Amino acid sequence: MAKEKSIYSCTECGGTSAKWLGKCPHCNAWNTLVETVAQPPAGTAKNRFASLAPAAAVMTLSEIEATDIARMPTGLDELDRVLGGGIVDGGVVLIGGDPGIGKSTLLLQALDALQRAGMPTLYVTGEESGAQVALRSRRLGLDHSQVQVLAETQLEKILATLDARKPGIAVIDSIQTVYSEQLTSAPGSVAQVRECAAHLTRAAKSGGSAIVLVGHVTKEGALAGPRVLEHMVDTVLYFEGDTHSSFRLVRAIKNRFGAVNEIGVFAMTERGLKGVSNPSAIFLSQHSEPVPGSCVLVTLEGTRPMLVEIQALVDDGGPSPRRLSVGLDRDRLAMLLAVLHRHAGVACLDQDVFVNAVGGVRIAEPAADLAVLLAITSSLRGKPLPKGFVAFGEVGLAGEVRPAPRGQERLREAAKLGFSVAVVPKANAPKKPIEGLTIHAVDRVDEAIAAMRDSA
Ligand code: TYD
Ligand code: MG
Repeated sequence: MAKEKSIYSCTECGGTSAKWLGKCPHCNAWNTLVETVAQPPAGTAKNRFASLAPAAAVMTLSEIEATDIARMPTGLDELDRVLGGGIVDGGVVLIGGDPGIGKSTLLLQALDALQRAGMPTLYVTGEESGAQVALRSRRLGLDHSQVQVLAETQLEKILATLDARKPGIAVIDSIQTVYSEQLTSAPGSVAQVRECAAHLTRAAKSGGSAIVLVGHVTKEGALAGPRVLEHMVDTVLYFEGDTHSSFRLVRAIKNRFGAVNEIGVFAMTERGLKGVSNPSAIFLSQHSEPVPGSCVLVTLEGTRPMLVEIQALVDDGGPSPRRLSVGLDRDRLAMLLAVLHRHAGVACLDQDVFVNAVGGVRIAEPAADLAVLLAITSSLRGKPLPKGFVAFGEVGLAGEVRPAPRGQERLREAAKLGFSVAVVPKANAPKKPIEGLTIHAVDRVDEAIAAMRDSA
């Protein structure tokens, strides 16, 4: 194939350069030049009449027929839940996650189920050989699987295969291994990932195949390659969880065809990933007796309330005490410690403070604040919270406790799982009592600390 000329364009100012430079010659920004395929100059045979071609007709919104999106359920209920009901024709999904977390496993299971349901599928593997994929499918008990496998990394060949076979769904595992002949950059580089994803997205939209791109995650937890990848695709899913525990969460970060922040919960077994349909209690550790520094949070993940144990350890620190968090935001932790000191008189100034959300789950919602504060206070004082205690609520800088969305649902879930005491924001207090649940409705952080002491 004849190589088309590539140029380098600046992501800041759009200026171009014939060769790679560390500094953009136009706007002097550093490290902004990215290789792109040069557009043929205007006036060449290819696009001489482009400006004369009729543009798509302009219509009013009401004239455009609103067709319902056709979806194909994958057969894995928890995956369908995050996708918003199933795979959409021509939809492009990006799925990211740490190595070894189960991306390939999940997608192979989904492809096999779709193939069995009659959808032609294609699994493009760039990381593993066909034999390795076959070995995995045997391990998963997918004998006689009719999933088509292509071990290929060159974009042009992948596109040709997509065009020839027109699968209903194709998985590209992974986008970082795919490269285009038209660029000289190495596979996995920003330029290659962006170019290849753009071509594959276009192929999906024009050919009607759904495409799933597997993406690697950098050390910082973002999808490797440019963030533009997330803008190009319809759906972005992240796999999270602790590789040492068997539970895995798949979270929708972006979804043009469904709700975001919906999660699917899976357990990794020796025969692959199994959906967990009632996950509300898996992120609790089993303490036979209450221990200091542990508070159960009722969090809301998508449409489902879940109970997650928040653990804190407060211990004598050195001259510069440490503040570390796993699964929770560290900046928020620093803020909460300041609020705790200023508005509730609980000081951890010379103490190391560690907090952890059990089970490798990542909690982003501010409604976790109250549980974090109570766990820290409990650890500092060496006093456990009573058995059956839950909390949720956002904490503000002025020491106020703000309501969390859908408080009633959270409380009902806690009651259903046998929890008996809840500390919640005043605005979330239910109008009618919930059977089996004693509720302390609080307005301020110091009231929450007092309620925790009173119920102990
Ligand atoms: P994999 O799906 O290859 O992860 P990724 O594609 O995200 O890198 O690997 C998942 C891990 O799960 C791997 O360490 C082996 C393990 N595993 C099981 O426990 N059970 C199984 O049935 C399979 C196929 C893998
Ligand atoms: Mg893999």
